[in-house]
Amino acid sequence: MVADHSPRLAVLASGRGSNLQAIIDAVADGRLDARVAGVFGDRPKAFALERARDAGIEARALRPRDFADRDGFDAALFNEVASVQPDFIVCAGYMRLLGAAALEPWAGRIINIHPSLLPDFKGLDTHARAIAAGVAEHGASVHFVTPDLDGGPVIAQARVPVLPGDDADTLAARVLETEHPLMLAVLQLLCAGRITLCDTVVELDGQPLPAPLQLASKRLPA
Ligand code: GAR
Repeated sequence: MVADHSPRLAVLASGRGSNLQAIIDAVADGRLDARVAGVFGDRPKAFALERARDAGIEARALRPRDFADRDGFDAALFNEVASVQPDFIVCAGYMRLLGAAALEPWAGRIINIHPSLLPDFKGLDTHARAIAAGVAEHGASVHFVTPDLDGGPVIAQARVPVLPGDDADTLAARVLETEHPLMLAVLQLLCAGRITLCDTVVELDGQPLPAPLQLASKRLPA
């Protein structure tokens, strides 16, 4: 049973929603003291919205094409988000850039998961680009969101090896396995008030983090 004072999360998602599902399951199992107050997106048919509704969570999508410009869309979306009074906003596979005006009131309260070891491979197709670059390690990062695409202060990362014979799909699957525990570990810290953003610096228990936390990494098989 989740207590009423548990932090309220709004989740933004555009697609499959496996990170959202990991959050919903962790809340249901009592592994995360939070409640998902609403799920929002830019694609009405996204499976993430179905997952939310199946769990009895309010889910709404707005269509970008119904708005004159990005700022108009963002303002409408964040109006919906604000209506569920979240403590934190979690971008979990939300695939649109967010503008400065929408983000400003949420500074330090909005995080994103990105499938690369930031600052490497910002943007799309990260797994294929990591393979093409010949890196030995790849992974995922959770960071505070700023208007700078995938450029906000990094809270934590999970590393995985790139193995001989990997293609973008096998590597993506290995990374995704680490994304869920990584996201949950960060949310536990955030919801407990242990991770904060002070200007542009991530703090853990009031002390600046010298480097992103390393969580949920997968090592090479021995
Ligand atoms: C995840 O791999 C997430 O890291 C990525 O989209 C996928 C969503 O999966 N996010 C981005 O690329 C954001 N730049 P999911 O819908 O199953 O959670």
